[in-house]
Amino acid sequence: MTSLPPGPKESLLTTLRTTFHVARAPYQAMAAARARYGDPFTMTTINGTVVATADPALIREIFSNKDPDLYETFANAALTPFVGARSLLLLSGEPHRRERRLLTPPFHGERMRSYGQTIVEATRAAFSALTPGRRFVALDVGQQISLEVIVRAVFGVEERARIDAGSAEIRAAMDAALPIFMFGTVFHKAPLGLGPWARYVRRSAAVDELLYEQIARVRPSAHERDDILSMMIAARYEDGEPMSDGQIRDELRTLLIAGHETTAVTMAWALDQLHREPAALERLLAELDGCSAAPDELAKLPFLGAVVDETLRLCPVVEVVFRKLRRPLRFGGYDLPAGVSLTPAIALTHMREDLYPEPARFRPERMLERRPGPFEFLPFGGGSRRCIGAALASYELRVALGTALREWTLALHEPAPVPVVRRNLTLGPKTGVRMAMVGRRA
Ligand code: HEM
Repeated sequence: MTSLPPGPKESLLTTLRTTFHVARAPYQAMAAARARYGDPFTMTTINGTVVATADPALIREIFSNKDPDLYETFANAALTPFVGARSLLLLSGEPHRRERRLLTPPFHGERMRSYGQTIVEATRAAFSALTPGRRFVALDVGQQISLEVIVRAVFGVEERARIDAGSAEIRAAMDAALPIFMFGTVFHKAPLGLGPWARYVRRSAAVDELLYEQIARVRPSAHERDDILSMMIAARYEDGEPMSDGQIRDELRTLLIAGHETTAVTMAWALDQLHREPAALERLLAELDGCSAAPDELAKLPFLGAVVDETLRLCPVVEVVFRKLRRPLRFGGYDLPAGVSLTPAIALTHMREDLYPEPARFRPERMLERRPGPFEFLPFGGGSRRCIGAALASYELRVALGTALREWTLALHEPAPVPVVRRNLTLGPKTGVRMAMVGRRA
């Protein structure tokens, strides 16, 4: 006999209503369900039944399970045209473990050092283009920086003209990718070769052409370079086989999709939150003024690190992760059937009053007063699918924010708190966070 934790009674109407609430206001929908039904709780949307929890002990149980065949990927077929069928995001079990082993080394903390100067240059290029008094949207600037970092540090493009042309092509493909395309393959239709899907397919093919060209350029000198593409080319699976060009293409696209918007959104939230808390901004500026512009020094500053972590706690870009069960499992006192997704609720966990007093307040110092454990603070998920780019993202955010705020004074132009909305696969600020350039700091 299977049993599920409490949740709304199952019916077509409640499923549709829950789907609508989760799509529109995910945090509120889940917080209301937890308050009403306890923890863990069950929710059913058109994408299936999830058993969600914000209890660190249960989250530990989910992430620490060592059975490689227990979970399958939650990613659906609609993602395939964006990342390719061999993408890490679409693999499960042994093929996923094999691919992760190959892709993990270039993302180790130590390796990040070689990307530091690239991040500083990308940040300076983005902010120095803004003249004093000029209004800008922090998310756009964040995207410009994170895209340039991916094109240079991940894809290994070096010449300015090719960086700009590549970035423009990728931006055009991303603009053509409507959020609805990610919801189901039924939206992947191009009647008579026309319409939005046909436009996306054309743009996407142009990006592929650039990626294959870049793989061919880098291949002869891959062993002398330190970009992530070179390391993929040099890497070998356990049986000695290299990655094919097609596999490399899929993973480059995966890193682009997983790494670009997530980092940019966090950058925008950090600027928003800091400019609403003058004491935190002042403390950060004092810390930045006591250090040089060297990326490695910036990355080690304790308060800057706390600002990044507190932003990831309060404004997580991904509010839940899913682990879909391949077989029945006893969990939290229930006998769950196969097909249900265990769901660590990141945003709910980050708002627990017992872990984070006054949870709605942006208080970076809390991260220095008490370092939360990995099942209490999980912006990058956890276990065998934990974000592979976590070290790069955290390093990039510290260096980019540190560089920007050390060198420029900015002003926030948001009269009210910015609402959180769903943007493609992530959550982000509705307005993108409107700001203005005040000028260079002395
Ligand atoms: C602030 C920035 C970022 C956040 C908040 C973030 C968050 C996440 C989360 C929550 C997951 C799912 C983890 C899980 O299921 O347990 C994930 C997966 C992933 N992320 Fe990130 N990410 C960020 C930046 C990046 C960057 C910069 C890259 C690479 C350039 C990257 C590459 C990936 C990949 C490849 C996966 C799939 C891992 C797998 O399925 O094995 N992410 N990320």
